[in-house]
Amino acid sequence: MIRKLAEQVKEYKGASIATPLFMLLEVAMEMMIPLEMGNILDKGVQGGSMQAIFCFGGVMILMALIGLFAGFAGGKYGARASAGFARNLREALFRKIQTFSFSNIDHFSTASLVTRMTTDVTNLQNAYQMLLRMAVRAPASMIVAMIMAFYISARLASIYLVIVLILAVFLIVVISVVRRIFSRVFKEYDNLNESVQENITGIRVVKAYVRESIEKDIFSRTSEALRKMFVKAESIIATGIPAMSLAAYSSILLISWFGAHMIVSSELTTGELVSLLAYSMNILMSLMMLSFVFVMITMSAASAERVVAVLDEAPEIVNPSEPVMEVPNGEIIFDHVNFAYKKEAQNFVLSDVNLTIRSGETIGIMGATGSAKTSFVNLISRLYDISEGSLKVGGHDVRDYDLKVLRDAVSVVLQNNVLFTGTIAENLRWGNKQATEEELKQAARMACADEFIDRFPEGYETFIEQGGANVSGGQRQRLCIARALLKRPRVLILDDSTSAVDTATDARIRRAFREDIPDTTKIIISQRVSSVQDADRIIIMDEGRIDAFDTPENLLKSNDIYRDIYEAQTQGGSGDFDENGGEDS
Ligand SMILES: Nc1ncnc2c1ncn2[C@@H]1O[C@H](COP(=O)(O)OP(=O)(O)O)[C@@H](O)[C@H]1O
Ligand SMILES: [Mg+2]
Repeated sequence: MIRKLAEQVKEYKGASIATPLFMLLEVAMEMMIPLEMGNILDKGVQGGSMQAIFCFGGVMILMALIGLFAGFAGGKYGARASAGFARNLREALFRKIQTFSFSNIDHFSTASLVTRMTTDVTNLQNAYQMLLRMAVRAPASMIVAMIMAFYISARLASIYLVIVLILAVFLIVVISVVRRIFSRVFKEYDNLNESVQENITGIRVVKAYVRESIEKDIFSRTSEALRKMFVKAESIIATGIPAMSLAAYSSILLISWFGAHMIVSSELTTGELVSLLAYSMNILMSLMMLSFVFVMITMSAASAERVVAVLDEAPEIVNPSEPVMEVPNGEIIFDHVNFAYKKEAQNFVLSDVNLTIRSGETIGIMGATGSAKTSFVNLISRLYDISEGSLKVGGHDVRDYDLKVLRDAVSVVLQNNVLFTGTIAENLRWGNKQATEEELKQAARMACADEFIDRFPEGYETFIEQGGANVSGGQRQRLCIARALLKRPRVLILDDSTSAVDTATDARIRRAFREDIPDTTKIIISQRVSSVQDADRIIIMDEGRIDAFDTPENLLKSNDIYRDIYEAQTQGGSGDFDENGGEDS
């Protein structure tokens, strides 16, 4: 785990090494100052020599200046190293997430990925900075101060030792309690982000269903849970400061008490006593810092695990070593294919799918919500990998293709598709970066998107807001189809992509497909019989199985499911698969 994180330090190695070195220099200066202070008192004040005061005082000021510079430089390099480390880590995470397949993303959930890239990385950044600055400095200063104290007076120094030990035990108890609280904090952060993310992305649905107050409750509950945990943790940590003061004052008291006796019996000078008091402060401060470092490391250990889990995740779908770089045609062969989303799942979502789709055919798919239509088509462009059997596109196994080649050739308009912030033209060019204006127009024409684009005052330069909020559902669907067409695919898959488009326009889009891209295999999932009845053949799906695969005419004669839906939809009635008109998502 440490190694995985250390890899991200990269170009900040120099700064990472310089920081503790500067901190050591600062410690060295800090340690010399009490000695000089003792000298001023003993040789200057007590000895009545102005010259000694100037001399030792000058040296002391010089040391203080060097210490100041070292502290400043250490702080600067520490900040540089930790901020750079955080940037590298974030970039590594982002790059990694880009390689994730759909199933990898299912594994973490989007909200959790967001927390890991933000809160967790920030934690690690703070911990790293603390580590660079304090991990060497605090123990070094503690040990040196201890040695110096023993050097001046072993008897008095042993007082520290006792107090430091008592304080250390106390801090260890505090840390172990706090550690347990913090490990729960991050799970709660995930919940918070999930609630925020779900609510904000679905804000329109939330409003439509007047769920605001319920959503607010969910959010406040998580928020409140976080507040409680932080208050608990921080108040426990806060007990450390009075404990430290107590220890400081008692050691001053004890040292002064015993020191006074020793001065009377000339075993100790006043200057030495002052130096000892200064060292006692140093020791206690270092102990305090050390405990802060421990708290930080505790907090960040949970974050480190969460970040490394993302970095360690193996992308489920990777490019083969010698990929096939061209999809020759749009033929699709499913050979005894079984599929489940999770390896450990008991039942297959799709079982024993066996069928051949010829290149250039138009295939309709119908079936109830949850009958695995989406799962079926997602296998073809390898958004998920099949569990058993074999799946060939254009004569090659889908796993033999270069991923980009395959996904360009198999163009899917996903069921819940989104547009991105940018102009219409920019969005369409996702399909093909080099597309000329003419090509954009042609694709828009085929998808019947030209009619409304031309009506926008700014045409193809119209700005699409995030998620396509400023176009209607049907307009968004048509833009998504145009975007998919720009890839000039061998296989075009529409997953319920014209559900918000009126039937007349829907028919015109299909006619354009027939006339303009006759060689492309077209797979159209729809809830509407009218969208698939002119297909060459129709797949009827039922609970993850192929119930029938035949021409519309034959299905009308032989398939009960198709006949029911056909009759319901052509003789009035909604004929929806779902009696209660369930939301498909
Ligand atoms: N990402 C996923 N992870 C786990 N299960 C899923 C996932 N997507 C869909 N499923 C499950 O697979 C089944 C088929 O879903 P889907 O293919 O979306 O059906 P359809 O498109 O016909 O409505 C459903 O039971 C659904 O719960
Ligand atoms: Mg679906």
